[in-house]
Amino acid sequence: MCGVVGYVGSRPATPIILEGLKKLEYRGYDSSGVAVLDQDGLKVEKKVGRLAELEKALSGRELHATIGIGHTRWATHGRPSDINAHPHTSNDGKIAVVHNGIIENYLQLREWLSSMGHVFKSETDTEVIPHLIEYFYKGDLVEAVQKTVSHLEGSYAIMAISVDQPGRIVAVRQDMPLVVGLGQGENLLASDIPALLKHTRRCYLLNDGDVVELKADQVIIRDVTGQVVEKEIFEVTWDAEEAEKGGYDHFMLKEIHEQPRALRDTLKGRISHAGDKVILDEIKMTPEQIKGIKRIMITACGTAYHAGLVGKYVIEQLVRLPVEVDIASEFRYRDPIIDKDTLVVVVSQSGETADTLAALREARRRGARVVAVTNVIASSVAREADDIIYTWAGPEISVASTKAYTTQLVAMYLLALYLAQERNTLAAGNIKEILGELKSIYAKAQEVLDNVEPIKEFAKQYHKAEDTFFIGRGLDYAVALEGSLKLKEISYIHAEAYAAGELKHGTLALIVENIPVIALATQQSLFEKMVSNIKEVKARDASVIALAMAGHTEVEKVADQVLYIPKTHQVLAPILTVIPLQLLAYYMAVYRGCDVDKPRNLAKSVTVE
Ligand code: F6R
Repeated sequence: MCGVVGYVGSRPATPIILEGLKKLEYRGYDSSGVAVLDQDGLKVEKKVGRLAELEKALSGRELHATIGIGHTRWATHGRPSDINAHPHTSNDGKIAVVHNGIIENYLQLREWLSSMGHVFKSETDTEVIPHLIEYFYKGDLVEAVQKTVSHLEGSYAIMAISVDQPGRIVAVRQDMPLVVGLGQGENLLASDIPALLKHTRRCYLLNDGDVVELKADQVIIRDVTGQVVEKEIFEVTWDAEEAEKGGYDHFMLKEIHEQPRALRDTLKGRISHAGDKVILDEIKMTPEQIKGIKRIMITACGTAYHAGLVGKYVIEQLVRLPVEVDIASEFRYRDPIIDKDTLVVVVSQSGETADTLAALREARRRGARVVAVTNVIASSVAREADDIIYTWAGPEISVASTKAYTTQLVAMYLLALYLAQERNTLAAGNIKEILGELKSIYAKAQEVLDNVEPIKEFAKQYHKAEDTFFIGRGLDYAVALEGSLKLKEISYIHAEAYAAGELKHGTLALIVENIPVIALATQQSLFEKMVSNIKEVKARDASVIALAMAGHTEVEKVADQVLYIPKTHQVLAPILTVIPLQLLAYYMAVYRGCDVDKPRNLAKSVTVE
């Protein structure tokens, strides 16, 4: 995810673009840049780091240009660096481009352009775009952009400016947001409305394939067939802060709803076309090294640790290797028994958590190979691990992790299936079956999100509770831990997660009349056992809300309320099961008037011990 802003008018463009980028920093913040056109030609400045670095680099400069484009980056292809930051320029240096999205066929395009003498400076997928525009430019920038995008596969919101066509920005979108802001004698473009609101509330919302020619006094939009189209003006009625959250009340809710997209992006390119193989090119282990693994240790903190617990169940089941999961702050000080035959997997959304990083270093010091699962390109964890599996959740702003967790689960499944495939521990048919289900998991996640009313209702009914219990068996137990953490951290309700079979060994004493018990019963092989455990708490008059897979209606006889998740392979159920729990925590916190995005005493990235 990245943010783009464009301006053409009569005022100095750079400060307007910088202001717009600030409003889009939530879309990415590892580097940024601007390109402007003035009487001397094209000027580009770009810097790794937060936007403040770019502002520093630009300070003291004469900023007269009245047309320009800008970008704030969340790295996907190529680490964050000055060179990889946008804008990127063409071979002849006359065209500059900013891009949000991923160009999937950039390697072929790059080879083709290189064979014609084009020289590339960066590691990005984006750089092929200005080179292609240059190649197709025959005096009309709009036509060159149209021809360029007909060769691109992937997703994009692109803006281009050219020395040869001053006074216009040409932009196009496909599967990535882009909005036109209409001013008086000036016009703007941006990834999102907050970047426009200081200047205008009148917008054009674009469709996929629309090509925009933006001038100070005119906006021409052509649809995918090249026909000029008339758009209705959209008047923005929300305030800037609301707009940044995309119309959601909180970042947490927005991020919960982004999960289908995040899951799809994390799976993209990692399952073969035939749907029978996992492609994890980022794992550089040789076949011998993979076969030589004797055990696996997963280490992480908080929610990432809970993703690791799912990883343990899944890897043990599919790869038949012993897996231990440890909290990173424990692992680093407990003199762990690991050697070169141990594969250590560290999981960290931010890639900067101090304990996780220390655990990684400890593991490598003891000779283990380390695979990192992280959401932030070139984070410390990514830089120091031997292999990296990136999750493509995009920036997570809310302190309570949601989309990072479900994408970490995807990474765990991909790793488990990859190891099973390389070690031949699972029949090809079984791998294909699970991959087939995995491919449709994001659509099922959307189904869960479309059924929010019963969860809201439950939250309304029980938000005054002071104690709650989450119970489950097997993978459901791992998800119960995450559900209870979510509830604790944002609603401040005391919540405990218990392995359902363990209740009767002590905790059952705490089950009293009307206490809310969230019982997870999605695992078919453990379903009957869970029904018995639900009966145990019902016999103590608890209020039970059960989560089961569609079709398992038997649970209705024992629970007070039942929520169903769509049918999927039981091993993949955690991705769907956790979503109602995230929503439950969210609405409970909202009904209690809590500061959902910034819970007390917590920080997003814990870079101290
Ligand atoms: C809870 C939460 C935390 C993080 C933990 C690790 O919602 O977000 O428990 O999961 O602090 O953070 P990362 O994954 O950045 O290492």
